[in-house]
Amino acid sequence: MYRKYRPFSFRELIGQDIIVQALTSQIKTGKISHAYLFTGSRGTGKTSTARILARAINCESPVEGNPCGKCAQCKLSANLDIIELDAASNNGVDSIRELRDDVSYLPSSGKYKVYIIDEVHMLSASAYNALLKTLEEPPQHVIFVLCTTNPEKISATILSRCMRFDFHLVPVEILAKHLKTILGKEGVKADDEAVMHIAKLGEGSVRDMLSIADRCITVGSDLTIEKVLDITGTGRTDDCLEITRAAFGSQPGAIIQKIEDLASRGRSIPSVSSDLASFARDVMLIKATGENTPGLTKDAYVKIKALADTIPFDFLLSFVRALGQADSEIRYSLSPKTVLECALLSVCKFDDGIAAPVIAKREYASPTAVRSREEVLSVIGFIRRELDKRNLNRLGGVFSSLSPDSCGISGDVLTITVESKYFDILNETKNKGCLNEICKEKNLKPVIVKKEEPVQEDGDLDFLNESGLEVEIVSGRKRR
Ligand SMILES: Nc1ncnc2c1ncn2[C@@H]1O[C@H](COP(=O)(O)OP(=O)(O)O)[C@@H](O)[C@H]1O
Ligand SMILES: [Mg+2]
Ligand SMILES: [Zn+2]
Repeated sequence: MYRKYRPFSFRELIGQDIIVQALTSQIKTGKISHAYLFTGSRGTGKTSTARILARAINCESPVEGNPCGKCAQCKLSANLDIIELDAASNNGVDSIRELRDDVSYLPSSGKYKVYIIDEVHMLSASAYNALLKTLEEPPQHVIFVLCTTNPEKISATILSRCMRFDFHLVPVEILAKHLKTILGKEGVKADDEAVMHIAKLGEGSVRDMLSIADRCITVGSDLTIEKVLDITGTGRTDDCLEITRAAFGSQPGAIIQKIEDLASRGRSIPSVSSDLASFARDVMLIKATGENTPGLTKDAYVKIKALADTIPFDFLLSFVRALGQADSEIRYSLSPKTVLECALLSVCKFDDGIAAPVIAKREYASPTAVRSREEVLSVIGFIRRELDKRNLNRLGGVFSSLSPDSCGISGDVLTITVESKYFDILNETKNKGCLNEICKEKNLKPVIVKKEEPVQEDGDLDFLNESGLEVEIVSGRKRR
């Protein structure tokens, strides 16, 4: 769809009003520059604008700075005076080497030859030099439009020779309106929530939004929010509401269970995490302003407002920070689930002495807050040795049966997820105190979470045997 709906006039471009205004007024006054640099994220309209500009410049009677669409120039199916080169492809590099000769020839039919060079930051060194030389003294009949998603890679010499325009991410309301118009033209019936959700997923890129929409549309049926959620695998407000409530209510079991549910429904942990992060932000903003944030449906707003009314701002602030940080760490983590669980549990308040009651007010600025698997393993090893030293065999047994995935450290919180029979052991007052003491030596606070799952007795026992430790297990039998 993004190819079908490529804009052909400045009027059809959305979200780039300042750029459109500047360019159309240059065309109207004839004060055009010989080199333009268009920068900005993908799918925001750089290439489209470059093409419109090229056509408007050569148009015989532009209308309000737009190509008229009627003159001989506008009607050319293949305009030889508009030359597009893609620096990301090989043929682009070769073409630019020839560029220096090519520019000296006069335009074939229009007033100007316009060179559009896409992804200009990817030019090879030799092509780059060729371009520089040409930019130094461009012939009167030549105009360059350089496009790039990486302006920081463009050298100062080139920057100094171009008139630069920064394309912005398109705000979600504008994206949604655009999508609605296009769906109307396509004859697709869509509910508002579905449209808004797709617009949100576009994250400011018109092209991304349109390709997501493409994926969601099936011939002969309406576009519903259920379908969009299903196909894009992105979250529902209700899931996020539930998790937030559980976190605020300090219900670790419910949190873990919910994450488990979502994962088993096929949701990827990174997508759950980014949903939660943006949801948390929405709740905080609504709490702070009382108003709806852009991109939320009215229905979602009403629900979130009701939730926000019951939660203090303090909590929301640490919730947003914890989730924001988890969301950025999750991409590099080998155990994304642990990262997310740690973040959610870190805002819970526990008052049974074993956990960290003050975490809710902690800062989450450190990027190393979530520790690597090796570090977690070494801490667990340390705890086991300490328990050994103290002859706490039953507790030691629990620790030697832990799988590394069931433990995680975020900030100063060590989360240990265990089955209910082990949970009972860890939860005994004496054991709790002891664990607290040992963890204190590593500046950690243990949080024990009960895993609600059927337990396979035999597997666990085998594991205890392998560990080579003499341990007493729950049933009271001795094992070697
Ligand atoms: N500002 C915009 N207004 C309308 N459509 C857009 C806009 N930006 C991108 N598009 C859509 O996305 C497609 C790709 O846009 P393009 O101009 O190639 O983006 P870029 O060069 O910035 O990556 C277009 O065909 C069009 O459908
Ligand atoms: Mg492009
Ligand atoms: Zn024209």
